[in-house]
Amino acid sequence: MRKKIVAGNWKCNTTLQEGIQLAKDVNTQVEEKGAEDVVVVLGTPFTHITSVVNSVNKTRVGVASQNCAAEPKGAYTGEVSAAMVKSTGAGYVILGHSERREYYNETSEILNKKLALVLENGLTPIYCCGEPLSIREAGTQNDYVKKQFEETIFRLSVDDFKKLIIAYEPIWAIGTGVTATSEQAQEMHAFLRETIAGKFGQEIADETSILYGGSCNAKNAKELFANPDVDGGLIGGASLKPEDFIEIINAY
Ligand code: 13P
Repeated sequence: MRKKIVAGNWKCNTTLQEGIQLAKDVNTQVEEKGAEDVVVVLGTPFTHITSVVNSVNKTRVGVASQNCAAEPKGAYTGEVSAAMVKSTGAGYVILGHSERREYYNETSEILNKKLALVLENGLTPIYCCGEPLSIREAGTQNDYVKKQFEETIFRLSVDDFKKLIIAYEPIWAIGTGVTATSEQAQEMHAFLRETIAGKFGQEIADETSILYGGSCNAKNAKELFANPDVDGGLIGGASLKPEDFIEIINAY
């Protein structure tokens, strides 16, 4: 059975002290009342990872970085490698977020290098995909996301593909307060699963967790997660509020 996962993406928010407090608060909520069958992950800024890893119950709360370098090491000022992330005790790396693709020119070629390094270092990639508004309005979102897959994760071996978590995040829904409707989310997730089945087989498609992201909150999570092909969420704004985040974790 594929895993149910709720991952927070804190983006560029919180000071170290605020981040540690937030992680502790989320951890308390998860220990007190978090659904045991939901994997919880906190995607923190690089500066916070070690402290957050040491502030949570590792059996209940995992930690992710939001990016990593495309090179293993060397003279790349300001970069943080996958091996460095691994050495903090984090278990996951968010890759290919639309904000990185859009603002930092992260191409499929760069993403492929990062994917390889993350996998080599035994970390789990949370691979993001999703279309901009113009593509949704043109009705070509399926082709668009399929192409993202073909240029990146469909080049992985079956064994590596099996290690992925996928997050579908329509760009028009991120941070806008406009959520994809439950039907839109299910339709895309079902399409992605079918596309994965076409490439790697039904069994692997059935085992792949596909998360929804984009203005998912404590109010709409239940309806979104009720869909058969939505296996959880990648949560931005609402992951900064422990009371909201726990409700999302418990929304199944
Ligand atoms: P919001 O939940 O703030 O819309 O962000 C979604 C997101 O980008 C998570 O990666």
